[in-house]
Amino acid sequence: MCGIVGYIGPKRALPIVIDGLKRLEYRGYDSIGVLAYDQEKKEIYLEKQPGRVQEFIKTAQLDKKGGLAIGHTRWATHGLVTRENSHPHGDCQKKIFVVHNGIIENFQELKDALLKKGHVFVSQTDTEVVPHLIEERQKQGLPYREAIMQTLKDVRGSFALLIFNKEEPDLLVGTRFSSPLILGTNDQEFIFASDPTPIGLVTKNVLYLNDGDVAFVSEKGYELKSFLSEKVEAKRGVIDFTAGEADKGNFPDFMLKEIFEEPLALENTLRGRLLINEGKAKLGGLEPLEPRLREVNRVILVACGTASYAALAAEYFFEEYAEIPTEVDLGSEFRYRKPIIDNQTLFVAISQSGETADTLAAIKEAKTKGALTLGIVNVVGSTIARQVGAGIYSHAGPELAVASTKAFTTQIADLVLLMLFLARERKMSLVAGQEIMNELRKLPEKMRSVLLQADKIKALAEKYSVYKNFFYLGRKYGFPMALEGSLKLKECAYIHSEAYPSGEMKHGPIAIVDEDFPSIVLAPQDSVYEKVVSNIQEIKARKGKVIAVTTAGNQDLEKLVDDVIYIPQTLELLTPLLAIVPLHLFAYYLAKKLGRDVDRPRNLAKSVTVE
Ligand code: AGP
Repeated sequence: MCGIVGYIGPKRALPIVIDGLKRLEYRGYDSIGVLAYDQEKKEIYLEKQPGRVQEFIKTAQLDKKGGLAIGHTRWATHGLVTRENSHPHGDCQKKIFVVHNGIIENFQELKDALLKKGHVFVSQTDTEVVPHLIEERQKQGLPYREAIMQTLKDVRGSFALLIFNKEEPDLLVGTRFSSPLILGTNDQEFIFASDPTPIGLVTKNVLYLNDGDVAFVSEKGYELKSFLSEKVEAKRGVIDFTAGEADKGNFPDFMLKEIFEEPLALENTLRGRLLINEGKAKLGGLEPLEPRLREVNRVILVACGTASYAALAAEYFFEEYAEIPTEVDLGSEFRYRKPIIDNQTLFVAISQSGETADTLAAIKEAKTKGALTLGIVNVVGSTIARQVGAGIYSHAGPELAVASTKAFTTQIADLVLLMLFLARERKMSLVAGQEIMNELRKLPEKMRSVLLQADKIKALAEKYSVYKNFFYLGRKYGFPMALEGSLKLKECAYIHSEAYPSGEMKHGPIAIVDEDFPSIVLAPQDSVYEKVVSNIQEIKARKGKVIAVTTAGNQDLEKLVDDVIYIPQTLELLTPLLAIVPLHLFAYYLAKKLGRDVDRPRNLAKSVTVE
């Protein structure tokens, strides 16, 4: 998963592209590279190196002129993190340059054929075949645009590409297939980017390119063609957030900002969607599907990582309140099953980025079998949002930290809204619907009261930062939260942690509990509280330290456990929205204590667009 950005227009392009890369760095940050073209001097400025944007700008010649530039921030797939493997990559004559997000799966056979024709490669990457292929096609007599089109037929795999040719310096070409790319348009200026966050630097007007679209852009305008050179249209849209929302503001890190935005994000995802008098959720995108949704007799929730834990929480309340058989599967596993799907199956994809390749693959499989597909997505106009039949946008705002936090809490809220939509079409009473909605409206304020404990949680995180292993435990709604809390600790602090249903501990895992292996236990006063307390006692009997998350006012655990975090009372199905906040903060503060780069954790990227 890499980030690509390109600008062509009357302004100096390099600073715009650099700013764009800063906003895309969460997609991958092993190395960075830029190319700028000075039309007056007819000069190419190309600079690239391993490391982050903030290091790059210390040495790059940012004063370079020119109204065209492309840039790339890399998450290495093929080839080590070296300068040679950084993008942009060029052809033999150093005329044609590309930046690429994705994987060219047949690159080796293409490279071997080009090597036989005398092409000289300088990198280990798959990407480098692209400029050489275009160069070779031109050598065979094809004009530049046709050489590009033929190249796009030659390559297989996933790609979002920006292509520049020194011999056609007024033209910037962008194309996508299974990797995201959108085009921001103003009268005479255009900006390509992997997602909307850099677009806001230039315009709010966007074109959502589809797989197979090729955009030929110059200051005079743009032309969209398919790989078959047919004229195509792209869906227009307007970016739904300001450039300011894509900045850290007064926070040291995006992750902390986004945790503190969880109440606001929840308010935004609920806004206009609670019809209290009818005890119903208003989900405009689903209304045309109401008759078909009434016929649904099975729900499959599919997602990856954090989003899959929101799905696991939803499995309980879909069955309990909508009374529809519900199952959860991982995007990366779903297509290996032989899922029994028909046109009464509701398939719901949950994704913050809307670009996760594993989840996309699952959607395609579900559509093949006739399921009704919905998406719960945060990025407007993303690929998943355009692949499914209808959906619910999370409206969490841009989430730029690799670790998903506010998007996660809005995913749970959106799943509650979807459950209400289905349940009220079935047996749920008006009163039951109103009870859930009235409590849901109170959650943002209750979340804010949890955030007031940030300093206490920071102290806890620092106290426990000496440990190398953690258990996260919970039952029912507590178990998906244990999974989410455990993932956050792994991905932000690089600390080993395992999440288990607390009832599972006695079936083996408790063997490794000792005073050096603390447990964080979700123990709100809910329907499974007593059982969870028994599990805590089993851990304490083995000298295991316990941090308990429990309901405010419950003094019982003070004597039993080592530390307690209190969360406000709420309905059991809404408890995840409160219980997860301290776990997000705990992981953040422990990671900071250990000096981790919380926004850009090692080995990770925000949007996993490879399978
Ligand atoms: C969450 O903190 C991780 N960054 C990761 O598990 C993420 O949730 C997963 O890759 C799914 O991403 P998506 O929601 O954009 O599809």
